[in-house]
Amino acid sequence: MVTATKNKKSKKVDFAKIREDFPLLKREMNGKPIVFLDSAASSQKPSYVIDAMNSYYENLHANVHRGVYQLSQEATDAFEKSRRLVQEFINAPSDKECIFVRGTTEGINLVANCYGRKFLEAGDEVLISTMEHHSNIVPWQMICEEKGAHLKVIPINEDGEIIMSEFDKLLTNKTKIVAINHISNALGTINPVKEIIDKAHAINVPVLIDGAQAIPHLKIDVQALDADFYTFSGHKMCGPTGIGILYGKEKWLNAMPPYHGGGEMIETVTFEKTTYNTLPHKFEAGTPDIAGVIGLGAAVEYMQEIGHDAIIEHENDLLAYGTSQLKQIEGIRIVGEAKEKASVISFLLEGAHPFDVGTILDKLGIAVRTGHHCTQPLMARFGIPGTVRASFAFYNNKADIDKLVEGVKRAARMLS
Ligand code: ALA
Repeated sequence: MVTATKNKKSKKVDFAKIREDFPLLKREMNGKPIVFLDSAASSQKPSYVIDAMNSYYENLHANVHRGVYQLSQEATDAFEKSRRLVQEFINAPSDKECIFVRGTTEGINLVANCYGRKFLEAGDEVLISTMEHHSNIVPWQMICEEKGAHLKVIPINEDGEIIMSEFDKLLTNKTKIVAINHISNALGTINPVKEIIDKAHAINVPVLIDGAQAIPHLKIDVQALDADFYTFSGHKMCGPTGIGILYGKEKWLNAMPPYHGGGEMIETVTFEKTTYNTLPHKFEAGTPDIAGVIGLGAAVEYMQEIGHDAIIEHENDLLAYGTSQLKQIEGIRIVGEAKEKASVISFLLEGAHPFDVGTILDKLGIAVRTGHHCTQPLMARFGIPGTVRASFAFYNNKADIDKLVEGVKRAARMLS
């Protein structure tokens, strides 16, 4: 379970009232009030975020960084305010180290390409773990193939935890970068990223953290972690789809070549030669997703208003309750029982295919994800085709879990 950042009790937050902020949670699915347990795939959005984006289009829309007229300057101010909100949210030293990208996948691809092009050579190694999402595997495979470098994989134990003694053996002077998720999307494991970063830094190896699953659950402090790169998506933390952040230390971002060429990322262009803009613009070619950036800023404000300590306490309660209730069902097997775990429960029901369980739950209005969760190598490690995954956000409650448990019991009766 996650440890709250402070030892003192978090401020009292009325989570029942907070649930009211999410219009979608009032709808039905298959004629039943929706029980949304797929926030690890994408969270729902509060009216605060939706209104901020609507208001932007109604009152503020113009292209950013380009117009001398007042409207464009107002849009630019709102856009850059979001960047500063993100900087504060993750405690980045500077807002120019916060690059707007489409999401975690793009953040990782950017680093794999730009860092890889500059720093990887034949025979070098990139170190990842068994529990990575495909988006933290495939970009590295692609650049390794191009450069003749090798992908090395840290094994995990039966509980779904990284085996640190194996990490110690795999981290060598051939390692050029470590790329690892903070929280596993499929298992909920919270990885010891600070320890991993410290060990990698001891031999001058930079570390990229895939923070897609951590950002909605944990208070992220990139300076305390000393992460070289930390990337996450807006849509998993109550923000819109299509926008995310790549935080990178200035020294790395300056040393890397740009990712995309185009407007905004240049300083001067002639047909002979182009010089590049300073950070963060060097990595932000083209008209950005302005409404997405405004929505992400609103999501940051919304999450900060609730406070991470309160979120952690509430989600820990849900995780403990859900785990104990599900474990009482005969034939259930929870996949991923790490000591440090976020509010994700992956499970299998003996004799039943995850897809069939998910289909029965759907008919009852319960939204879960089934399948391999974009982690096929992890599923292969456990020798399973996939799991049913219930993932909880702070807007969920124990009644949601009770309905899930009833639904799984019904599926067990129907499928066994
Ligand atoms: N990566 C997202 C998930 O785990 C989509 O569901």
